[in-house]
Amino acid sequence: MSKIGLFYGSSGGNTEDVATALKSELEKQGAEVELHDIATDDYTMMKDFDRLILATSTWNEGDLQDDWHSVYDDLADMDFNGKTVAFVGLGDQDNYGDHFANGMGLLSKPFMSNGARIVGRWPTEGYEFEASEAVDGDQFVGLALDVDNQLELNDERMQRWSEQVTREFGLK
Ligand SMILES: Cc1cc2nc3c(=O)[nH]c(=O)nc-3n(C[C@H](O)[C@H](O)[C@H](O)COP(=O)(O)O)c2cc1C
Repeated sequence: MSKIGLFYGSSGGNTEDVATALKSELEKQGAEVELHDIATDDYTMMKDFDRLILATSTWNEGDLQDDWHSVYDDLADMDFNGKTVAFVGLGDQDNYGDHFANGMGLLSKPFMSNGARIVGRWPTEGYEFEASEAVDGDQFVGLALDVDNQLELNDERMQRWSEQVTREFGLK
């Protein structure tokens, strides 16, 4: 189906707020979006979507957000062939610059290994950090957002990224 499944994990609500805002940005671009909180919804519903956006924050010095943590091993056994997937990662580059938005990098691995086509890569310009597993080549593997230090840049980043992924998903 052409509807995008947007699955997110959020401990303090920041990623949830971003997921809700992204849904409305994507809808402005003409996409249909179904939101799922990984804490309450069955992650295996991912198989019902050809287009996925997966969003996580980073916790515990470079680790995945807790709700993603509990399903992570199972993702390694899923087949993502035929799926187009984009990632969103929240982090704090000032306090955790050694592993900024690492969770997004970790989350991307089983999808990359198991056949997904990855879209939504994002430049690292405009961020200041030392290291991140979310960097693949010379770009972030998805949209990196830092609401702790760059809240004022969020709306514009989400808007530009929504235009980009709607195009890359082949929805316009
Ligand atoms: C205890 C703690 C550990 C964190 N660890 C990291 C980290 O390793 N890397 C990072 O980029 N951000 C880290 N963060 C920042 C969070 O990822 C960021 O605040 C995010 O917006 C939280 O989103 P959420 O409310 O959706 O969980 C940490 C925050 C806290 C409070």
